[in-house]
Amino acid sequence: MIIAIDGPAASGKSTTAKKVAEMLNFIYVDTGSMYRAVTLAVLNAGMDPNVESDVKGILPNLAISVEVSEGGSKTLLDGNDVSEETRRTGVTNHVSAVSAMPSVREEMVAMQRRITVGKDAVVEGRDIGTVVFPKADFKFYFTASHTARAERRRLDLKKLGIEHSTEEIIEDLKRRDDIDSGRIHSPLTRADDAITVDTTNLTFDEQVAFIVNRVRNS
Ligand code: CDP
Repeated sequence: MIIAIDGPAASGKSTTAKKVAEMLNFIYVDTGSMYRAVTLAVLNAGMDPNVESDVKGILPNLAISVEVSEGGSKTLLDGNDVSEETRRTGVTNHVSAVSAMPSVREEMVAMQRRITVGKDAVVEGRDIGTVVFPKADFKFYFTASHTARAERRRLDLKKLGIEHSTEEIIEDLKRRDDIDSGRIHSPLTRADDAITVDTTNLTFDEQVAFIVNRVRNS
C-alpha cells in the first residue's frame, strides 16, 4: 500500500509522514532528501547547479542511496549519511533549480519506485500522488499559511544551530514554492483525488490522527 503526502515546504509533511509510518508499520520515504543529496553532490563537485548539462553529466556517477525503515529514512551520499548536511542553507538555496531538471527527476523517480517495490510505504514529496504513484491508495495534500510554515521551519533550523528571521524564511518558502509550482516537469500541484489537509491550526497529533484514521477506517 502506498500513502502519498505532497505539499509545499514546511507544511508539516515530514514529521507527520514519519509518525504515520511508525504507527502503521510502513516504511517512510523522504523524497526531498534525495533531491537535496543530488544538489549537495553538484555543489561538492564545484558545478553550477543551474546548468543541466553539467548536472546530467555527474548523475551516472552519483552514489546516492536511501536506507528506509519503519518511521525512518536516511539519505546516503557516497556511503555517508547526509540527512542533516542537506538541510543547510547552501543546499536549500539551489535544490529547487536542480530538482526542476528532467534528467534529475527521471533518476530520482526510478529510485523512489524501486525502493518501495512490494512494500507498504508512506512517501512524501511534491509529485508523489501526481507522477510517482498516480495510483497510490491514499493521497493527501498538505497546506498551511506562510506564517505557520515559516515559524515551523524557523524552529527546525534552530535545532540545527541555524538562525534565520521569520521574514527571511517566508522569502525562501515563497521563492521555492514559485519554482516548484511553476516548473514544466512534475510541478507541485494537488492531485485531483487528493484530500487536502490545511495544517495551519492543527496540532501534530491531529494531523497524524487524521491520516491514520482515514487509512484504518477505509
Ligand atoms: O523540507 P522541505 O519541505 O523544505 O523540502 P524537501 O521536502 O526537503 O524538498 C526540497 C526540495 O526538493 C523542494 O523544494 C523541491 O524543489 C524538491 N522536491 C521535488 O522536486 N520533488 C519531490 N518529490 C520532493 C522534493
